[in-house]
Amino acid sequence: MKLAFSSLFALAAAGIAAAAPTAPVRASTPSNELDSVSNANCTRQTYTVTSSNAMRTQFNVEAMGNPAGNQTQTTQLFLEFITDQSGFMSRYVTGTQAQTQDFNISGVFCEPTGQRNENAAVQLLLHGIGFDGSYWNFQGQNVSEEQYSYVYNAAARGISTFRYDRIGTGSSEAPSDVFNVAQAATEVGILEAVAEKLKNSTEIGGRAWNRTLLVGHSYGSAQSQALSVARPELVDGIILQGFSANATGLPFYLAATVYTEASQVFPRALARLPPGWLVTATPASNQLPFVWAPTADASAVALARNTEQAVTQGSLFSIGSIGGPSNFTGPVAVVLGDKDFIFALNDIQGPNGTNKAQAAASMLYAQSSNATGIVLPDVGHAVNIHRGAQQAYTQMLDFAAVNGLA
Ligand SMILES: *[C@@H]1O[C@H](CO)[C@@H](O)[C@H](O)[C@H]1NC(C)=O
Ligand SMILES: *[C@@H]1O[C@H](CO)[C@@H](O)[C@H](O)[C@H]1NC(C)=O
Ligand SMILES: *[C@@H]1O[C@H](CO)[C@@H](O)[C@H](O)[C@H]1NC(C)=O
Ligand SMILES: *[C@@H]1O[C@H](CO)[C@@H](O)[C@H](O)[C@H]1NC(C)=O
Ligand SMILES: *[C@@H]1O[C@H](CO)[C@@H](O)[C@H](O)[C@H]1NC(C)=O
Ligand SMILES: *[C@@H]1O[C@H](CO)[C@@H](O)[C@H](O)[C@H]1NC(C)=O
Ligand SMILES: *[C@@H]1O[C@H](CO)[C@@H](O)[C@H](O)[C@H]1NC(C)=O
Ligand SMILES: *[C@@H]1O[C@H](CO)[C@@H](O)[C@H](O)[C@H]1NC(C)=O
Ligand SMILES: *[C@@H]1O[C@H](CO)[C@@H](O)[C@H](O)[C@H]1NC(C)=O
Ligand SMILES: *[C@@H]1O[C@H](CO)[C@@H](O)[C@H](O)[C@H]1NC(C)=O
Repeated sequence: MKLAFSSLFALAAAGIAAAAPTAPVRASTPSNELDSVSNANCTRQTYTVTSSNAMRTQFNVEAMGNPAGNQTQTTQLFLEFITDQSGFMSRYVTGTQAQTQDFNISGVFCEPTGQRNENAAVQLLLHGIGFDGSYWNFQGQNVSEEQYSYVYNAAARGISTFRYDRIGTGSSEAPSDVFNVAQAATEVGILEAVAEKLKNSTEIGGRAWNRTLLVGHSYGSAQSQALSVARPELVDGIILQGFSANATGLPFYLAATVYTEASQVFPRALARLPPGWLVTATPASNQLPFVWAPTADASAVALARNTEQAVTQGSLFSIGSIGGPSNFTGPVAVVLGDKDFIFALNDIQGPNGTNKAQAAASMLYAQSSNATGIVLPDVGHAVNIHRGAQQAYTQMLDFAAVNGLA
């Protein structure tokens, strides 16, 4: 089952991110002004969380030619993975191993300052590759919070949110082992620990939350999907944005990005990162997989590029190791732009007359009370940086309301 599935879905679960032009400007620690919105009280805090018994993929880093920091060998490995994934796996992956490790994760809790919706589930927001938690509070010069910040739009409906920076992004710690630590299974373990904290402690927002709506984007969706397989009881609803079960676009994404040492591309902004943390080479190599230019404003695309965050080959090569069909019984929405390059290959048509969003929802969540595909017209992969962002948020928040979670 797992094997048959991984050929179809496995590679599908890519993550993604940012967009186009201009030079790096963000300080090495993201500024707190990105943390707030005008209609909520936002607090950033560092949490120590335990990624428990994560079934990590074991990469033979020596056989791989010790690529961290060696751009030639890093690029060579992308070439090998893209052209012959199974050969790549048999050469370099020795198996899996359960590992437990603590991580320092930086997160922001936002509580509406206006009227609160006491019936609403808290929303746990998990960004994808190329971004940090500010993907969910996307705003800046000429990029208004009303139009672009999901946190703002949720707070306007009285909903509290918690978002965190995945490892190696924003203000969270960046492991130096870019294969056997910074990879997909480790991160699902971190997400599990955060989801558990929300329900079973008062560390996030000062109370134990009765219900959680988990909202992911791209690689964050892949991790959310995987959590719903391993621990469905930790979540009460799921929204997977920028995601499908069709992996056809993944190799194109990996080739288009021309992933390059972050310290070379953003020598100031990402100076803290160890060798082997990678970003897209140029604004153009970011644009191709993440942006549908006709519906994305230049200032939003520039903001995404200016705040771009890094990823490891360990994560990119282990995406296929997580996720699968889930027994989760609550509501699930898969939200996909019809111009999503990575998960739709700019062709939203799915099997049997469905679309790729609905196909993913139905295939992965056979027991869901409401497995719904939502297609966003003329929107690329990095949904929240497109002009259609607010319309997407309306549909996501309506889905929460219709299904009793807001
Ligand atoms: C904002 O939240 C923090 C942390 O929960 C709390 O200490 C503070 O009193 C809140 N401020 C307002 C204005 O509600
Ligand atoms: C980097 O990798 C290439 C092979 O792709 C190898 O020839 C070269 O010696 C390596 N450089 C260093 C400094 O290890
Ligand atoms: C995590 O935080 C703890 C407590 O602040 C600190 O002692 C530790 O060095 C941090 N670990 C890392 C890897 O940053
Ligand atoms: C909740 O926390 C308690 C005490 O720390 C622990 O014994 C219990 O296993 C936790 N439950 C879950 C579901 O995490
Ligand atoms: C959550 O709250 C609802 C309504 O207040 C209540 O009926 C339900 O039992 C609570 N569930 C849990 C797990 O505490
Ligand atoms: C996946 O997407 C590609 C590109 O749109 C399409 O050709 C292929 O038929 C799709 N596969 C499935 C199983 O839907
Ligand atoms: C914002 O918009 C103003 C007016 O259109 C323009 O002059 C300015 O260059 C824009 N700034 C950015 C960062 O795009
Ligand atoms: C889903 O439920 C079936 C039937 O109880 C069980 O065989 C299967 O292992 C479950 N799947 C997961 C991922 O837990
Ligand atoms: C499409 O329909 C065929 C024939 O009914 C079925 O075997 C297949 O599982 C369907 N595929 C999906 C993805 O629903
Ligand atoms: C499922 O969610 C969709 C989208 O929000 C909504 O239109 C529909 O009424 C829901 N169906 C059920 C059975 O709740």
